[in-house]
Amino acid sequence: MSDQAQNLEALKKEAALKAVALVQSGQRVGLGTGSTAKYAIEELGRKLRDGELSGIVGVATSNASADLAREVGIPVEDLDPRPLDIAIDGADEIAPNLDLIKGLGGALLREKLTEVQARRLIIIADHTKIVSRLGEKAPLPIEIAQFGFLSTVERLREFLPGGRLRMTGASNYVTDNGNFIYDAQLPADFAPAELERRIKGTLGVVDTGLFLCMAERAFVAAPDGVQELV
Ligand code: 5RP
Repeated sequence: MSDQAQNLEALKKEAALKAVALVQSGQRVGLGTGSTAKYAIEELGRKLRDGELSGIVGVATSNASADLAREVGIPVEDLDPRPLDIAIDGADEIAPNLDLIKGLGGALLREKLTEVQARRLIIIADHTKIVSRLGEKAPLPIEIAQFGFLSTVERLREFLPGGRLRMTGASNYVTDNGNFIYDAQLPADFAPAELERRIKGTLGVVDTGLFLCMAERAFVAAPDGVQELV
């Protein structure tokens, strides 16, 4: 791993530790997905093992996070209608008002289903995820049903041209839910809530990686320290 990559990993971990410090014993915790959320899951496991926390239950946003949580000793339960006390997750882009793009890791549907039920959604990231407007750096992942996916992509391309179906090698990328992902290029200027409504209203779309008005705060780590955005 290059020095730069190692430094980014250290920053992700710093942000994760800040968020985990908010978790209290007995809480039901939404466990995010991705390389930053991984540090939060590992730290929660460590705190349980060391007796700094007890009675934590995790609700995982992907099979990978559920596997990791069990590995580090966090009891994992399925999502049910009860609220979660807190959820901790990474993001691909963080706008100044804490609107987010998520889903480059492919877990956007379970993340949204889980995190919408969290009393507090805490985002953790390194400083490269900060943008002045959504879509500046990352595509917008849109989860779509496999059945008829080419027709769904055509419908999406009518107003979001230039995107591409996500691939793993020569095959379509398949989410934990058995769906495909269309990575859309966002226009330079758009109204996020309106775009979200239009995408969700497109036949074949399951959900989008736009997480609007959901995050309570973000811990963003940079070489000169961790900034808390609210
Ligand atoms: C997965 C996600 C991740 O939170 C997002 O992709 C950030 O991942 P990483 O911390 O690895 O950069 O939304 O669906």
